[in-house]
Amino acid sequence: MRIYREKDYDGVSRRVAYIIAAQLLLKPDAVLGLATGSTPVGAYERLVEMYQAGIIDFSKARSVNLDEYIGLSGHDPQSYATFMHENLFSKVNMDPANINIPNGMAADPKAEASRYEALIQDMGGIDLQLLGIGLNGHIGFNEPADRFLDHTHPEHLTESTIEANKRFFASGDEVPKMAITMGIRTIFDARRIILAISGTNKAEALNAALRGPISPQMPASILQLHHDLIVVADEAALTLYL
Ligand code: F6R
Repeated sequence: MRIYREKDYDGVSRRVAYIIAAQLLLKPDAVLGLATGSTPVGAYERLVEMYQAGIIDFSKARSVNLDEYIGLSGHDPQSYATFMHENLFSKVNMDPANINIPNGMAADPKAEASRYEALIQDMGGIDLQLLGIGLNGHIGFNEPADRFLDHTHPEHLTESTIEANKRFFASGDEVPKMAITMGIRTIFDARRIILAISGTNKAEALNAALRGPISPQMPASILQLHHDLIVVADEAALTLYL
């Protein structure tokens, strides 16, 4: 595990963007595992700037997103598909054919999860997976549980996740109760993982994930065993880890 200790959120964003850019320069058709939420927004902004400056090119890049809410179409303003379009895909030269996000409207979410898992395998797996962390230690939408769930699957969101994510919705009642998420094995099989963490409210999760026992009750703790984990965190998130 390598830890980049950055001064603040901007530092985290810059470092994450540099690592993704380096991946694209080394392998233009890399499979990028992407995340949504507040944490990666700044990194996507930096990537767009690097694209506009002619430093990086997304024309051959392929992407797979971690997760999508069940019940939201890709055109819904709150969907993760819309988030990705607004924050990254519409601003760089990604080929739409190379963009993959679970279909939250699939009639059979289990079958959709299996299709998505097979697609990732067919692409040759993920070269670089970007992750944020939930306050409860979730990665993707793998919530605390009695066992690590392996592959892409439908997941019930916990009350704490619904509470944390309601800031993106008009009210808590509008937050979908389920999502399709890559599983722990899907994520763990990525050849390189970046875990981006910012803010004092994440300090406990960071400490428990990286120092605590490896347990499905703290899903991110499994990352301690990954052979190429890069943690990019700011001083505020690292306050308890020192
Ligand atoms: C997002 C995802 C989630 C978030 C996590 C942190 O695709 O899978 O695990 O990374 O909930 O979210 P933020 O960055 O909003 O604190």
